[in-house]
Amino acid sequence: MNRLDRKVALITGGARGMGAAEASLFVSAGAQVFITDVDEAEGIEVASRLGEACEFIRQDVASETDWSRVVESVTRHHGRIDVLVNNAGIFRLLGLGDTSLEVWDQLVAVNQTGVFLGMRSVAPVMKKNGAGSIINLSSIAGLAAAPRAHAYSATKWAVRGMTKSAAAELAPFGIRVNSVHPGLIDTRMMDEIGSTPEKLDARVPMGRRGNVDEVARMVLFLASDDASHCSGHEFVVDGAMKA
Ligand SMILES: NC(=O)c1ccc[n+]([C@@H]2O[C@H](COP(=O)([O-])OP(=O)(O)OC[C@H]3O[C@@H](n4cnc5c(N)ncnc54)[C@H](O)[C@@H]3O)[C@@H](O)[C@H]2O)c1
Repeated sequence: MNRLDRKVALITGGARGMGAAEASLFVSAGAQVFITDVDEAEGIEVASRLGEACEFIRQDVASETDWSRVVESVTRHHGRIDVLVNNAGIFRLLGLGDTSLEVWDQLVAVNQTGVFLGMRSVAPVMKKNGAGSIINLSSIAGLAAAPRAHAYSATKWAVRGMTKSAAAELAPFGIRVNSVHPGLIDTRMMDEIGSTPEKLDARVPMGRRGNVDEVARMVLFLASDDASHCSGHEFVVDGAMKA
């Protein structure tokens, strides 16, 4: 069954990791997918691998003008955006005492301001259609203490709160907004932790890191009409780490 048949989806940070996996799953579910990223080379490669149903647009999610350009470009061709996945993110393994103002500002700009601009930019388009689903990538660092990732954790808690506020505001317009909270997932972002695969796996009660497809399947559920009465909530994919 094509769970996203005829839907138009926009996925930020789609050049690799979870974003690329979400794009691939969405295409196989029947969607027309736009991926955006600051990494042009990898973004173009993912889009060409996925064929005509996927297009790449260069975008820095922290830029207001980039958001205007991206939304204008998608709606000019398709007249609608049914799904927005605010997936782009950056991570730094720095505790409170080691976090410079510069690093703090960088993380807030991408992880938090990017999500704010994304939701604010697509909401008017979704309101016109009377429907839409927004999925914001938070983290288990937005559910519990993350003592060695102070700024990252702050942005992911913010995304959780922003998701709830937007869900309540946009519900009367048929727009659902949810947050997804991955645990340790095997992507390049984990290189920043500087640990071994074995040590990372040992931190997960299930005995292994999650893979990108396991997160993508949760995102697909929330994007689809299967989640028609789900809004304003946290959906965790963490192998029981925060159970
Ligand atoms: N990997 C994990 O274990 C994990 C756990 C919890 C949450 N997350 C969250 O999941 C999301 C995806 O993470 P991932 O593991 O796939 O990471 P990743 O580093 O593999 O991919 C992130 C993508 O975002 C892009 N990006 C970075 N800054 C950008 C910007 N300013 N504008 C546009 N694109 C930008 C990167 O170029 C990259 O392609 C992130 O929001 C991350 O915080 C990841």
